[in-house]
Amino acid sequence: MTTPLIETKDIGKTYGSVIALSDVSTVVHAGEVTCVLGDNGAGKSTLIKILAGVHQHDEGSFQVEGEEIRFSSPREALDHGIATVYQDLAVVPLMSVWRNFFLGSEPTTALGFIDRKQGRAVTKKALSDMGIDLRDVEQPVGTLSGGERQCVAIARAVHFGAKVLILDEPTAALGVKQAGVVLKYVAQARDRGLGVVLITHNPHHAYPVANRFLLLKRGRALGSYEKDEIDIEELTRQMAGGAELEALAHELRAAEA
Ligand SMILES: Nc1ncnc2c1ncn2[C@@H]1O[C@H](COP(=O)(O)OP(=O)(O)O)[C@@H](O)[C@H]1O
Ligand SMILES: [Mg+2]
Repeated sequence: MTTPLIETKDIGKTYGSVIALSDVSTVVHAGEVTCVLGDNGAGKSTLIKILAGVHQHDEGSFQVEGEEIRFSSPREALDHGIATVYQDLAVVPLMSVWRNFFLGSEPTTALGFIDRKQGRAVTKKALSDMGIDLRDVEQPVGTLSGGERQCVAIARAVHFGAKVLILDEPTAALGVKQAGVVLKYVAQARDRGLGVVLITHNPHHAYPVANRFLLLKRGRALGSYEKDEIDIEELTRQMAGGAELEALAHELRAAEA
């Protein structure tokens, strides 16, 4: 077994008196997708903010490639190869696709000016390598659909050599077709050897691309499964609170007996 890219053991985080995350353990391997599922308030964003260096855990262990880590900034996480794509994608709508692709690390000419021609060509190549066909990388990012923006963000992470790609609900605001396209690029990033953390509400989006599932509920792990341990029906049932209802029914029967 190779060293995981990311491993958390019994990780916990409180905001004041709110326990946002408690005793959560999971693992992310190169070339695999770990899917984090749960309702609003489950702690999904808190978990990825710890992985991405936005917040720090206050309990448990967080290791990156076998090394105990506590990032003090998103920059530090990025330097360790952990790239995060947030749902709202902090993009400047009027900025061109290619400028957005580089965001401050544009190629320059010998005289130190931004090399627009090179920038456009590299962006086009990186997108087409992922099978993304944009006619015009000079068009403003704001003209792209939500799904296309997610795809550009995924291609960017792949191009700049991320080891871990974290996606916070990339399909939440999308229709079935666009969600399918985004999931195709998630699978491509995985097949190129990245470790992917995919956050979603939707077991039907998670199931086809994931290697394992972490189900969160009110900050706790409701379950953790390798793909061969759970089928889509059971995953859906667990998401819908089936496991909780069963536990409750069990308690009631025990109380009656
Ligand atoms: N910055 C914060 N300050 C206080 N409470 C927070 C903060 N961020 C999240 N929480 C709380 O922590 C819990 C988990 O939230 P979050 O991680 O955003 O869940 P999810 O992404 O699954 O919807 C919720 O109860 C939420 O209200
Ligand atoms: Mg969230």
